[in-house]
Amino acid sequence: MKLLVVCLGNICRSPMGEGALRARIAEAGLGSWVQVDSAGTSGHWHAGRSPDPRAVACARQHGVDIAAQRARQLLAEDFEEYDLVLCADADNLREARELAPAGFEARAVLWLPWAGIDGADVVPDPYYGDMGDFEHSWALLDTAAQATVRRLSRRGDSGIIPA
Ligand code: 4NP
Repeated sequence: MKLLVVCLGNICRSPMGEGALRARIAEAGLGSWVQVDSAGTSGHWHAGRSPDPRAVACARQHGVDIAAQRARQLLAEDFEEYDLVLCADADNLREARELAPAGFEARAVLWLPWAGIDGADVVPDPYYGDMGDFEHSWALLDTAAQATVRRLSRRGDSGIIPA
């Protein structure tokens, strides 16, 4: 099972989402079965960059080290490699589906609703915000990560992979 977390720049939300998901997967003992990466729909501005220092600090506050991650752009080939492309917001989802090869569009989903989170559909972009905004994004991403692990743990769940 390969999961790709996607946002716009791959320097704030998706690196935090990758870190949270990796940590929750390891905690659940699913590390040998589930692989996680992240990418940005517009990674060309930031490709090769480290995560935003505020994202690194926020993850570290929660015991997760994301400093070694490097940004990259989402590629059409990713849709053949990854079972699910977990998008942070509706723009990310639209752009991911536009990039997807024919027949692979359904692999891109809006992460929070897919994970069954109530009360929020999107992870807001904290880039122009403050540490409180990063904390809010982290809380949503980590809640989604925990819910994702619960969903993946039910291996009989036929709804895991979109048709
Ligand atoms: P991300 O945040 O999509 O969560 O990585 C952003 C990063 C950079 C920009 C916008 C959002 N930017 O405009 O450069």
